[in-house]
Amino acid sequence: MRILLTGVAGFIGSHVADALLARGDEVVGVDNFNDYYDPARKRANLRRANSDPRFTLHVMDVRDEDALARTCGESQIDAVVHLAAMAGVRYSISRAPLYVDVNVRGTVNALEGARKAGIGHVVFASTSSVYGRTDRIPFHEDHPLGRPLAPYPATKIAGELMGHAYHNLFGTSFTALRFFSVYGPRGRPDMMPYRITDCIVQDREFVLYEGGEMYRDWTYVDDIVAGIVAAVDRPLGYECINLGRGEPVQMGRFVRVVEALTGREARFTSSPAPPTEPPITYADITKARTLLGYDPLTPVTDGMRQFWAWFQAEGRH
Ligand SMILES: NC(=O)c1ccc[n+]([C@@H]2O[C@H](COP(=O)([O-])OP(=O)(O)OC[C@H]3O[C@@H](n4cnc5c(N)ncnc54)[C@H](O)[C@@H]3O)[C@@H](O)[C@H]2O)c1
Repeated sequence: MRILLTGVAGFIGSHVADALLARGDEVVGVDNFNDYYDPARKRANLRRANSDPRFTLHVMDVRDEDALARTCGESQIDAVVHLAAMAGVRYSISRAPLYVDVNVRGTVNALEGARKAGIGHVVFASTSSVYGRTDRIPFHEDHPLGRPLAPYPATKIAGELMGHAYHNLFGTSFTALRFFSVYGPRGRPDMMPYRITDCIVQDREFVLYEGGEMYRDWTYVDDIVAGIVAAVDRPLGYECINLGRGEPVQMGRFVRVVEALTGREARFTSSPAPPTEPPITYADITKARTLLGYDPLTPVTDGMRQFWAWFQAEGRH
């Protein structure tokens, strides 16, 4: 297969590229290497992919409708995996226009590019944060989504809705995968696993919301990648599917896992959670198991061991 993969240089995108190339697919990668975090990390993420002749890279912005459509049209693409986005929740608080531009407009451009080129299948990166604050756990795909807590999840809901419009009007197969807190090697430096590890090894104090009494359904990147690849292989019409581990981890326990790995003690203070943060995320993964054969195998202790090995190998200790 030949896959157009946007956001290819990012944390998840680079792992998806490696997995597709490893099984013999061709990958046409798109990324604008923005400086939300150090672009040098993104270039390093692509070390393996760059050594594969079946990988091509287009340094391009998904907001550029014509350029994206041209790339879709020129390359005989079988499916689009659209991961490019502004991905931070808190960063979105005061940047709604930017998030709408990249995440909504960029997604419409990917859908348009696919439609014009006759590409029938689009896989889209959505998020657990579309569920907002809810007492109904675990989160099921049928739960209502009308109450996003920040611009970021609002733009992801909009992407899911635009996917439905294209499915209805043009028959595009559209699978929105709602990722739950992804972690692992190449992890984003703005996310908790990286930040906590960095603070612990540097003996810096950090803030833990609600004294660590919050729960996140941490999901190892290889499990997420297996779900994405399965979604590439199975056009399903229109579906929204949770990809989580289905096992929320208390953040206090998460810190203890990192303490055990690093052999050092964490120093933290507690603060109330900001209004962007729900107290728990918890995926019901029945649908992913049924439709995608998804089976997230990695417990957080094993996944964080892999993360820690990468963190040290990259000289970040
Ligand atoms: N990491 C998680 O826990 C998580 C959870 C839920 C959803 N997601 C979603 O998964 C996807 C990948 O997330 P990630 O954690 O790998 O983030 P990331 O920031 O590492 O990767 C995103 C990539 O997209 C690129 N990009 C951003 N704007 C672009 C634009 N305008 N044009 C072209 N490229 C652009 C960035 O340069 C980056 O390489 C995103 O859509 C994100 O919203 C991630």
